[in-house]
Amino acid sequence: MENQLLKGEDYSTVFEPLVYLANYVRDITGHEDQGHFMKFAMDAFHKAFSKANTKGRRLLDVGTGPSIHSVISASKHFDEIYLSDLSTRNLKALAEWKNGTLQHSFHTFFQYVVEKEGEGEDATSREEEMRNKVKDILFVDLLSDTWSELSSKQPYDAVVTSLCLEAVAPSTEIYKSIAGKIVALLKPGGVLVVTGVLGQSFYIVGDHEYYCLSIKEQDIKSVWTGCGLDIELWEWNPNNDRRPGKRSDYEGIFLMMARKK
Ligand SMILES: C[S@@+](CC[C@H](N)C(=O)[O-])C[C@H]1O[C@@H](n2cnc3c(N)ncnc32)[C@H](O)[C@@H]1O
Repeated sequence: MENQLLKGEDYSTVFEPLVYLANYVRDITGHEDQGHFMKFAMDAFHKAFSKANTKGRRLLDVGTGPSIHSVISASKHFDEIYLSDLSTRNLKALAEWKNGTLQHSFHTFFQYVVEKEGEGEDATSREEEMRNKVKDILFVDLLSDTWSELSSKQPYDAVVTSLCLEAVAPSTEIYKSIAGKIVALLKPGGVLVVTGVLGQSFYIVGDHEYYCLSIKEQDIKSVWTGCGLDIELWEWNPNNDRRPGKRSDYEGIFLMMARKK
């Protein structure tokens, strides 16, 4: 494994979407090194969107990567969904999911969500409906000054971002400036749902180690409240099996739902 942690453009040249999906988004149980990470995330997304009690036109997912699990719960509340990423490989994987040719199945995630919602919806129909709601797959470099593709569709009624900002921001200060720009895309009263890891300095995909900003709960909360959001939900799942040799060194995963004033 290389000494330097991969980031940025490495997601277009080295990162393997199908390996990431097989490692972390294989099914609702996730990877054995990640404990109940995925189940926690899917339960928390469901809780956040039930609690937010919001309906709207446009939903944006920031840094979707190759995985659409982060918008399944949200998808029933919005008419148009926009996915986004920096990586050409991930953008291609998302386009393949939309046209039904991606060599990876999210079926267990759809199944889990429709069962939790308890309205008798069929998982395959829900996936089809979500495909139709995805109106565009947008390029964004969160470290650049302008996010022209994302801003061309603003304002959004809700923004979701999963495991992305800490993989991007080189410092808490830059995390804060990215957060400010995300909040600017939201309508007043709009909802932000962020899920991420605390205290993680790297994570492994295949044979490669990727960068992560090790950040604390207090920093996350003060960044988002400082950007004009009221936090309405904070869910936390500690990693009780943190030891060397694992695929990452995360202390735990959080999900935060907050509303723009
Ligand atoms: C850990 S993955 C998270 C993917 C997905 N949201 C999930 O929950 O599994 C981090 C994502 O951040 C994206 N990324 C890295 N640098 C970026 C940047 N400067 N701007 C936008 N996205 C970036 C990567 O391409 C990758 O898809």
